[in-house]
Amino acid sequence: MVEILKVENVTKRFGGVVALKQVSLTVEEGSITSLIGPNGAGKTTLFNVINGYIKPDEGRIFFREENVTKLPPHAICKRGIGRTFQKNRVFANMTVLENVTIGALLHTSDVDEAESRALESLKIVGLQNKKNRVVKNLTILERKMVELARALSTRPALLLLDEIAAGLTEAEIAWLLKLLKRINSELNITLFIVEHVLKFVMNISDKVIVLDHGVKIAEGPPEEVASNSKVIEAYIGGEDNA
Ligand SMILES: Nc1ncnc2c1ncn2[C@@H]1O[C@H](COP(=O)(O)OP(=O)(O)OP(=O)(O)O)[C@@H](O)[C@H]1O
Ligand SMILES: [Mg+2]
Repeated sequence: MVEILKVENVTKRFGGVVALKQVSLTVEEGSITSLIGPNGAGKTTLFNVINGYIKPDEGRIFFREENVTKLPPHAICKRGIGRTFQKNRVFANMTVLENVTIGALLHTSDVDEAESRALESLKIVGLQNKKNRVVKNLTILERKMVELARALSTRPALLLLDEIAAGLTEAEIAWLLKLLKRINSELNITLFIVEHVLKFVMNISDKVIVLDHGVKIAEGPPEEVASNSKVIEAYIGGEDNA
């Protein structure tokens, strides 16, 4: 299997807090890989290191064998790592199409071309009929789909999704699972997903990686990870039992 992403011995400290401690992992091209762990485990910090928002104190990030550790976020995005955020980062006063076009402008300065790419991404997430709506009037799911479409319009080979299912109903989650499987298999986009909703993770993932207090405590197929005693302890022992 070809590794699309390799995280090598990454350590990140915030003052006295060690958010990531010598974390190493790989994501295989074409896979759906999930990253789970209790609140404060370091999941978002790891995504921030991967896409260049924060620089690690130690360790390296390789994307398709290129060392991207020192590159700025836009350069990393241009190479093919897309991202959505735990705290939705849509522009609330802009339209759906405008929000998504911003992503497409990464690869072109031609606004018409960017808009047509944005429309393609909106079709994938089912929002093409709401392209002229102002984002602040949308539902939570729709806002998340605007952000997903924006990430898709940057043409990622690897897409990092940080708690995209949070706040959604069971029915919405079921719909989203199907969509993500389709994005993975039909668009050939490798997915790396941070998720609290364990059912979601177990259903969709080829591999699950578990972080606890900045340390990787398990990695493997979902059923193996779910029965790992260290993982059970991290979830039951912590204050967060989600
Ligand atoms: N910019 C920052 N400055 C200081 N401390 C930070 C910063 N970002 C994260 N931390 C700390 O690093 C640790 C890991 O946080 P992180 O947000 O990565 O966890 P998480 O696994 O994403 O948690 P959650 O499930 O709640 O989203 C926490 O102790 C957090 O308080
Ligand atoms: Mg987080």
